[in-house]
Amino acid sequence: MSLLQELEAHVRAAFDACGLQDEPILLQAASKAGFGDYQINGVMGAAKKQKTNPRSLAEQVVSALKLEGIAQKTEIAGPGFINIHLAPEFIIQKAQMALQSDRLAVSEHTPKNIVVDYSSPNLAKEMHVGHLRSSIIGDALNRVLRFFGHNVIAQNHVGDWGTQFGMLTAYLLETEQQGDASLALADLEDFYRRAKIRFDEDPAFAQKAREYVVKLQSGDQEILALWKQFVSISLAHCQAVYNKLGLLLSQKDVMGESAYNNDLQATVDELVQMGLAVDDNGSKVIFLDEFKDQDGKPAAFIIQKTGGGFLYATTDLACIRYRTRELKAQRTLYVVDARQSLHFQELFCTARKAKFVSDDARLEHIAFGTMMGEDNKPFKTRDGGTVKLVDLLNEAIQRAGALVQAKNPDLTSEQVAKIAQVVGIGAVKYADLSKSRTSDYVFKWDSMLSFEGNTAPYLQYAYTRTQSVFRKVAQFDQNAPIAVEDVAEKQLAVALLQFEDVLNTVAQSCYPHHLATYLYQIATLFSRFYEACPILKVEGSLKDSRLQLTQLTARTLKQGLDLLGIEVLDVM
Ligand code: ARG
Repeated sequence: MSLLQELEAHVRAAFDACGLQDEPILLQAASKAGFGDYQINGVMGAAKKQKTNPRSLAEQVVSALKLEGIAQKTEIAGPGFINIHLAPEFIIQKAQMALQSDRLAVSEHTPKNIVVDYSSPNLAKEMHVGHLRSSIIGDALNRVLRFFGHNVIAQNHVGDWGTQFGMLTAYLLETEQQGDASLALADLEDFYRRAKIRFDEDPAFAQKAREYVVKLQSGDQEILALWKQFVSISLAHCQAVYNKLGLLLSQKDVMGESAYNNDLQATVDELVQMGLAVDDNGSKVIFLDEFKDQDGKPAAFIIQKTGGGFLYATTDLACIRYRTRELKAQRTLYVVDARQSLHFQELFCTARKAKFVSDDARLEHIAFGTMMGEDNKPFKTRDGGTVKLVDLLNEAIQRAGALVQAKNPDLTSEQVAKIAQVVGIGAVKYADLSKSRTSDYVFKWDSMLSFEGNTAPYLQYAYTRTQSVFRKVAQFDQNAPIAVEDVAEKQLAVALLQFEDVLNTVAQSCYPHHLATYLYQIATLFSRFYEACPILKVEGSLKDSRLQLTQLTARTLKQGLDLLGIEVLDVM
């Protein structure tokens, strides 16, 4: 049980004993020093409903609280807040448990099958910065849920089907006939541009491209082979980016749109049979009363075009069916740009009506905002083009390398290269993950690579500071209890015990910035402790205790950053 859950159980019991069964307790970790470690905020609301005096109700709650061995002191403050000061022996015992556990005493959840649909780029072009957020937010969620023991099934729903692939396969055949296909495919962005020019300029080529779409859809072996060749090269480009980013994604997680091609007609037929989809001038449509426009007309969720063509929505419906029936998904996270929010609302609504999901399964759109340039407009190159993701990552590594070199000229070029990789990639990921995902954010090299403030380099550096402490001690008692006499020690220790609660929040809400904010708080508290409490200049049990606290800090930072997909180094 997490610290908050344990305290909640006690406070709940006290509220119940005072006849407040229906009142929320509103217990939180105190955000400011001097207010205890936890604060109960539910008394005022309860008193209002019961029409009694909040302070005297608070007194009743305090006398009903059974926190022997847990709290040192509980006090009433202001209009009826109750501040809980944890007892040192309780903190010491909990810290000991965390130190002795290889998972920092974080309990596992009852395992569920959780599908995380993330990254999911369109394969017609190379990955660009627009794919960064889905890839790194999705990966962090994958890691956190896995850590809790869930069976996480990553699904990379790549766009590998549709009209563009007719054009691309036609162009691939043409370049192959000219003998330079592999060279042409080295830069997919360029390949796409040239194919598009051919398509726009030569009607015969355009005609062929359209024929190839039809051939692809009907399973023509020759065209399919060309398509496969193109897709596998494009996926190799993606995998190179994933590896550079250190994502968990691999080829086995790829389950692209084409994988559902044979289920599309069956899905539409099922929806028609159920009476959900109806004919609307030749197209098949699901009218959703839940989404009405200004004139009160229900939204039309189109699943088949006049002429028989299928849409993005059809594939997603077939996909939900597959995830329910084959993958037995109990929770599905779609880590996709906020601009697709209406699509997902309509999709989920339809899937529920059609019973393509079980009633107790959760479907969640994990929406995120746009990455902006310093001009506050969506991030672009100087001449307004899209930025290739691989170029952005290389620039991050190169910039980090220059900084590291300047900071520490004695490092070998190998050391610089390693640190540059870890710091550069860490900085890009952390800049994203530390902001609330639903807002847009401005991508700024200087602030994300700064060694001050809420950045990856700052946290990574805090970790190396813990490691440099251990390099200076020959040995120490790894079972020594920590002491919490100094306030800097106590604040750090209490914060370290909140790791599980923070992870629970992330697993539940899917907002990784809560974890980032927490790690930044730990690094800041560690730095205060480091300044206020000498570690190596003291002796005996006090030294052991402070080393243990440093150890718990190091392990929490490392584990926490790992769950965000960020590496640490012992030296940098
Ligand atoms: N390929 C889509 C895009 O780039 C994202 C797919 C997201 N996943 C899904 N199941 N719709 O916009």
